[in-house]
Amino acid sequence: MNGKKVLLGITGGIAAYKSAELCRLLIKSGADVRVVMSAGAKAFMQPLTFQALTGHEVRDSLLDERAESGMGHIELARWADIIVVAPATANFIAHLAHGFAEDLLTTLCLATPAPIAVAPAMNQQMWSKKITQKNVQALADISDCQPVLVWGPDEGSQACGDVGPGRMLEPADIFARIKALFSADAMDASGKSEALPLAGKRVLITAGPTRESLDPVRYISNHSSGKMGFAIAAEAVSMGAAVTLVSGPVSLPTPSGVTRVDVSSAQQMYEAVLANVPGMDVFVASAAVADYRPEQIASQKIKKSNEGMVIHLIRNPDIVATVAGLTKRPFTVGFAAETNDVLSYAKGKLQKKGLDLIIANDVSRSDIGFNSDHNDVTAIWSDGEQSLGMANKSVVAQRILRIITEHLSKLSSPVAAGENLNNKGYSESDDE
Ligand code: C5P
Repeated sequence: MNGKKVLLGITGGIAAYKSAELCRLLIKSGADVRVVMSAGAKAFMQPLTFQALTGHEVRDSLLDERAESGMGHIELARWADIIVVAPATANFIAHLAHGFAEDLLTTLCLATPAPIAVAPAMNQQMWSKKITQKNVQALADISDCQPVLVWGPDEGSQACGDVGPGRMLEPADIFARIKALFSADAMDASGKSEALPLAGKRVLITAGPTRESLDPVRYISNHSSGKMGFAIAAEAVSMGAAVTLVSGPVSLPTPSGVTRVDVSSAQQMYEAVLANVPGMDVFVASAAVADYRPEQIASQKIKKSNEGMVIHLIRNPDIVATVAGLTKRPFTVGFAAETNDVLSYAKGKLQKKGLDLIIANDVSRSDIGFNSDHNDVTAIWSDGEQSLGMANKSVVAQRILRIITEHLSKLSSPVAAGENLNNKGYSESDDE
């Protein structure tokens, strides 16, 4: 990090005390750090703390004549190699997403050509609110040259007593992400780096349900919301992958940086996957694909009669098994959504479909699985398995992708990564 210019923005949340540790890690690694605090941040931390750590006066005002006569705000915006805002409050994210330049930090973010990363930290309800999610989504589009990177949040117990998503990532984690962006000077215009674990990898993902038409009005489908697959797509992008997401009908926004292909039926999903799979490194089949479709689709609405009705169904192609059977195939990951004997059914599917990895998912529980924001899954491969613990789907997605990257590196260097695979259990308390 020697000589890298990091502008550390701090906004008003209790996690601001952790920014002192982040600041120290950056300084220790040789970075040149300047700190800008919002008014709210100063209610939690003294600017003097950061001045002592960085050796530079903390900037906190846009209209400070004395500070402006030193390094003006536009100069400061140009000086930064990266702006990292940690913690980033819901209020700051809202202002950033809408282009406000009402204080020094928001003005710098608007004026800088450098990549921006934010580490959200807020109460779990605030994070989950639709408007906050919309604002986070909008960050993808605010810059002309690159999306704003959103790091975290993590989930776990919060200062307010709640438990859920909204905890700022730990300083060491944020530091590692900054370092990864800079390492080997590989940061490109999109703010991505060769050092990101999935940099240079192409990932194809299916998500959501399929709809199997009976007539122009009715269809057969299932309860899949697509949330798990969309979370994997979003996390894969932030780990550096080029991601194509083939989605059944869902009402979810496209994660930033993801190429999305919308389909409706299993047959369409099959065709879209086969058209996109050449050149892919990883295929993750998280879609809940209908196994059967009506043999006939009536061209006009079927009329009711006093009799019962029989619909003749025929099998749909198995997409993930087809991909796993290709001679030049990506690392292939399936999901097993089961209501009973989850692990043993999943193991059977891993083998029968010829997969590299399967994610076993108990959909009988109402607190996880379909439509829920949470999941509690077990990753299973030919000679090992690992419970990934209950967490929100973003965190579960990160854990699934971590397992995938470990397997990918095992493929390229059999000794190095093999040791990592069996010994890392995750539990709720990992978030603490
Ligand atoms: O056999 P089952 O449907 O339980 O297998 C689930 C896994 O297979 C999931 O990864 C799902 O996306 C995939 N699948 C598929 N094509 C199908 C049926 C399931 O890719 N027709």
